[in-house]
Amino acid sequence: MSKPLDQSIRLRRLRASAAIRSMLTETTVEPRQLIQPLFVTEGAALEPIASLPGISRIPLSQLAAHCAELQKLGIHGVALFPKIENSRKTAEGAEALNPNNLALRAIREVKQKCPGIIIFADIALDPYTSHGHDGILNTKGDDVDNDLTVQSLVKMSLLTAQAGADFVAPSDMMDGRVGAIRQALDANGHTGTGILAYSAKFASAFYGPFRDAVGSTRKNGETLSKASYQMNPANRREAIREAHFDAAEGADILMVKPAGAYLDIIRDVRETSDLPLAAYQVSGEYAQLHAAAEKGWLDLRATRDESLLAIRRAGADLILTYFAEAYARDFAAR
Ligand code: PBG
Repeated sequence: MSKPLDQSIRLRRLRASAAIRSMLTETTVEPRQLIQPLFVTEGAALEPIASLPGISRIPLSQLAAHCAELQKLGIHGVALFPKIENSRKTAEGAEALNPNNLALRAIREVKQKCPGIIIFADIALDPYTSHGHDGILNTKGDDVDNDLTVQSLVKMSLLTAQAGADFVAPSDMMDGRVGAIRQALDANGHTGTGILAYSAKFASAFYGPFRDAVGSTRKNGETLSKASYQMNPANRREAIREAHFDAAEGADILMVKPAGAYLDIIRDVRETSDLPLAAYQVSGEYAQLHAAAEKGWLDLRATRDESLLAIRRAGADLILTYFAEAYARDFAAR
């Protein structure tokens, strides 16, 4: 017999059985920590989204039942995104302020028929603009006008709060919008409506399938650059500044987006703020695992679970993920 190493510290003792591994698990992913993004369509039938396998745009008539199903699985929150007809899109995104638009009807429908689920309503103009940007362009037409856009976002937030959303979720990255929205909500009696701020949202190439889903995808075959308002993926310190500003302006929950390629940012924001922190595992993160699994190259369920675990371990309290429903089903079954 070979002589044992002179090794008194042996970490493998803590990994020796499923039981001890389970006891010592530091991080968990539970359905209550997940928020399901839902796409809503004007159409009458489910519309599968090719680049988001398993995800469809949902017609208004099926939306509340879908939310009730999620609730049964232990999911408490949904993030709503409308896909409107191209004919309703304009340069200013005026449809965003139509009090009877699809997003507002969707909120009212869910609040009426599935009142317990928490609605995070996206605040940005990209589902409504013909050019696909999150805001209104300046007179030269070469950039998004910050302050003009904030005026629109404030009005949109008021309509959204009136419709019954629990949280407005500005995803536009304009400067000063969180403070302006908070002030307007308070001045109009919506002190109970929260703000989930997309604080550190990066100009990422991982948003492609989402843009297919809301139909804002490409301009002359190219993915639209939002680099003049979304963050530079190279920047860490700047993300902390963004988080501080949104917190000071009255955000209730901060968010980092995307998640998987930005785990260091999640950790940084976690350590710099005591606010609850969300992370958005975006469409491209979901699509890449599905695509590799379809080829037989990755185990979908195992990589899904590991990717979510990593985001929680980095410091996110909540995760917006297209995997929410599937994860919760498997969670209930085990
Ligand atoms: C735009 C918005 C985007 C996403 C959520 N809100 C895309 C973008 O900034 O172009 C992306 C989400 C995803 O990829 O899953 N306001």
